Amino acid sequence: MSDNSSNAIDALQWENRRFPPSEAFKDQALVAGTFMYDTAAQDDLGFWAQQAAELIDWSTDWETICEWNLPFAKWFVGGQLNVSYNCLDRHVLAGRGDKVAFHWVGEPGDTRTVTYSDLLAETQRFANVLKGLGVGRGDRVNIYLPMIPEAAVAMLACARIGAAHSVVFGGFSAHSLRDRINDAEAKVLITADGGYRRGDVFALKPVADEALESTPSITGVVVVRRGGNEVAMQEGRDHWYHDLMAAADPVCAADPMDSEQLLFLLYTSGTTGKPKGIMHTSGGYLTQVAFTHKYVFDLHDDDVYWCTADVGWITGHSYIVYGPLANGATQVMYEGVPNFPGNDRFWEIIESYGVTKFYTAPTAIRTFMKWGIEEPAKHDLSSLKVLGSVGEPINPEAWMWYHEHIGGGRCPIVDTWWQTETGGIMISPLPGATTTKPGSATFPLPGIGAELVDENGVRVDRGGGYLTLTRPWPSMLRGIWGDQERYRETYWSRFDGRYFAGDGAKLDDDGYLWLLGRVDDVMNVSGHRISTTEVESALVAHPSVAEAAVVGATDATTGQAIIAYVTLRGGAEVTEQDLRNFVGEEIGHIAKPKAIYFTPDLPKTRSGKIMRRLLRDVAEGRNLGDTSTLADANVVTELQRRAADVPAED
Ligand code: PRX
Repeated sequence: MSDNSSNAIDALQWENRRFPPSEAFKDQALVAGTFMYDTAAQDDLGFWAQQAAELIDWSTDWETICEWNLPFAKWFVGGQLNVSYNCLDRHVLAGRGDKVAFHWVGEPGDTRTVTYSDLLAETQRFANVLKGLGVGRGDRVNIYLPMIPEAAVAMLACARIGAAHSVVFGGFSAHSLRDRINDAEAKVLITADGGYRRGDVFALKPVADEALESTPSITGVVVVRRGGNEVAMQEGRDHWYHDLMAAADPVCAADPMDSEQLLFLLYTSGTTGKPKGIMHTSGGYLTQVAFTHKYVFDLHDDDVYWCTADVGWITGHSYIVYGPLANGATQVMYEGVPNFPGNDRFWEIIESYGVTKFYTAPTAIRTFMKWGIEEPAKHDLSSLKVLGSVGEPINPEAWMWYHEHIGGGRCPIVDTWWQTETGGIMISPLPGATTTKPGSATFPLPGIGAELVDENGVRVDRGGGYLTLTRPWPSMLRGIWGDQERYRETYWSRFDGRYFAGDGAKLDDDGYLWLLGRVDDVMNVSGHRISTTEVESALVAHPSVAEAAVVGATDATTGQAIIAYVTLRGGAEVTEQDLRNFVGEEIGHIAKPKAIYFTPDLPKTRSGKIMRRLLRDVAEGRNLGDTSTLADANVVTELQRRAADVPAED
């Protein structure tokens, strides 16, 4: 725990507005009232078993619902299923092959309509392509793609043959991609020439080529043509997607897999520099993502659902690919940014496709607020029924703006708290059952145990505390790839018998949960987790840098912004922009500090520990508290003077 932990639990002003679901909404809702909570409270394992039986098709029934050997869980033990069969075949077999799976919208304005039959056909062919490249059950496949339907195809094709995918967000650098490929020892990489972003093509294959210079496990590379940019193809290793697909056998059986078969790895930042390969398996994961997608979004057959996340993040895995497809939903998938060609792109898409359920992040909502209410007002948004939020705490003002200007005052808002590690939504309203309060994620979902505890692990029933999960849940991580000791240490060692999520939260008098952000050394920038240590390591990797300290400072748009304090080696010179670019190359553009301050020294305790709390106070322009433990108080005065200058931005 870092020295800034207490800051995360400061008092939050109480928000008293309440929004019960309307009678009209309740009348059509899948869940109104408390029956689902009551059932789950009586027998949570029985409740999950019922969801698994109702929502998923199993080839072999399970023998045990949950085997719990703290901290290792197995769900639906002995059961067998094929995840891609559940997302595709069963809908087609039920006569719903012509239902649209994806209304895909490319950033330049091109569109594709992909039905469930189309998606099944493409997935089967691609599964055969993977087999042809030597991929089999238990192997790992890396995916580095833009937001195109082939991303879903690639993931589902892996699932179909029991290979685990590891998707790396297209904004990550060659170094990050290389490290993730090597940690997973992936056999095949699936990428594209490039994708569209803000009107331009961004290159992916050239970045991948740099990574591929030192990824000995990769024997084959598949390249989707999207950007049309020039790429080099290495004879024998690199293949065009369309060539392989044209030659592939169209039929690939969906063989049953064990419920605990590894479905994917997804790398996420922790408090140390090395990203963790979070492991998710099949039966429990699919059950919880299907359950939460259905009930949190109150899914109906005629819904048009749109989640704006990228498939490179857990939100894209669980709420674009696996949850919605398992439920046979129709979705919008959009390739690009919200402000191309105009600031109303999202609202235009909602209007054209009649989107009913919309899921986005607070950082996006705050950006829309800046662009003004005229942008959504240009479009008819009356199709919308439920609005979702994910990734960071949503402040009451942003919640109210979302409610009024996007939801027309009539749509329940579901503020969903969860993590890469939890796999699926854990804390959220059910839109027909829960009275919401702006800024509160409300209550744990049926079947989920969440409690706050104090420093000593004693349960807290009102006020601030550390958010912990009290019992296993079906979509929980099964560990950290290659390092189960780190898994135990990171999540299960702080409070006895409890999973500690790294977040602080507060309980009000009515038992509502208010998330307060991270209490560890993880920053949350635009809903993305970035570790302070990781950015520090990147900075000190620069030959001019002697020492670096990184903090997350509150930022009106991105939630937190990365602020770096850097001490240069004697005689070295480097510009702020050069260092920012260097971090971009080491990790990816999302990790570039918003501001870098050069300082001859960093504020340290007499024992030599960098005082991050002080640096955060400086970055946020706060008055400093006690500085008596500082070895040299002058350092801080100097930093404050420099921080008063306006920081640079991209
Ligand atoms: O701090 C919490 C914040 O995002 C963290 C998880 O990040 P990641 O694994 O990247 O997954 C993001 C998408 C699920 C959490 O520890 N977080 C996520 N959702 C919320 C949130 N904080 C407050 N309210 C939320 N609704």
